[in-house]
Amino acid sequence: MPKKVTKAIFPVAGLGTRFLPATKSVPKEIMTLVDRPLVQYAIDEARAAGIKEFIFVTSRGKGALEDYFDHSPILEQELRKKGKDDLLAILKNTNMDSGEIAYIRQHKALGLGHAVWCARRLIGNEPFAVILPDDVIAAEKPCLQQMVEAYQETGGNMVAAMEVPPEKISSYGVLDVKEDKGSIVSVKGMVEKPPADQAPSNLAVIGRYILSPSILQNLNKMKSGAGGEIQLTDAIAQEINNPDGQGVFGYRFRGQRFDCGSKAGFLQATVSFALSRADLRDDLYRYLQEVVEIDQAAQ
Ligand code: UTP
Repeated sequence: MPKKVTKAIFPVAGLGTRFLPATKSVPKEIMTLVDRPLVQYAIDEARAAGIKEFIFVTSRGKGALEDYFDHSPILEQELRKKGKDDLLAILKNTNMDSGEIAYIRQHKALGLGHAVWCARRLIGNEPFAVILPDDVIAAEKPCLQQMVEAYQETGGNMVAAMEVPPEKISSYGVLDVKEDKGSIVSVKGMVEKPPADQAPSNLAVIGRYILSPSILQNLNKMKSGAGGEIQLTDAIAQEINNPDGQGVFGYRFRGQRFDCGSKAGFLQATVSFALSRADLRDDLYRYLQEVVEIDQAAQ
């Protein structure tokens, strides 16, 4: 039986240039889908999967992110005085207990692999999860929880995988599949951002991982890969041929993934999450219908 996964790394040190000028002063992960920051969705998903230690890899200018998880005594006192228990409960969900959360600085944005490596001393010799808060996944059972359950069967290293159309495949890490068992696929190779005609499959890796500590050793020895960055994909791919390793598996999760690192994905997620809210659905739905009708009439 593999060891329990209780630690998760949240790499949030990227520059977020696709959201400039907003990200000049607001960390991307604090931007809200309806009324919850991206990072709150990530934390909720991690908690549901049994994560107890939350490790953020941050960078300069991400102070708002650290403040977000702090207790806010004055605000709480005011809400309590006014009897606003519903808002107090929402706030409580954002608090982290002392020692539950850690922040590590990545001093230079040298890539996702490098960001994960920065957290090596806090991980030690245990399996760990990596969650990219940019990838928001709407699912009945949260994605990382699905993966943790599948990982109990496979051990080794597991990446979340989803099918992607050929014109988009070159934006992703792509799996070369050895054996396809439905939700779990065993992997014989991984390529970061291949040209569409060289992609080994249409199965792309997205931002959820369960990794063995040997990935950190692989990262120790690595130089930059595709795009001049230290790629996490390359460190995971090395485990495929590691005679002492326990293999690499892709997991086809059930759920809808939104790429909230892109403007289009962020807007789609906003609409989708708003439509799933009883307090917003009707008004928004009516508005969207009007917009479509006006647009169609104009054509
Ligand atoms: P992205 O490729 O989306 O980069 O990183 P980015 O800087 O966040 O955004 P753009 O492309 O400039 O708009 C994917 C994830 O990896 C983290 C990011 O914070 C994001 O969660 N990351 C990336 C790091 O933590 N460090 C890095 O050096 C690179």
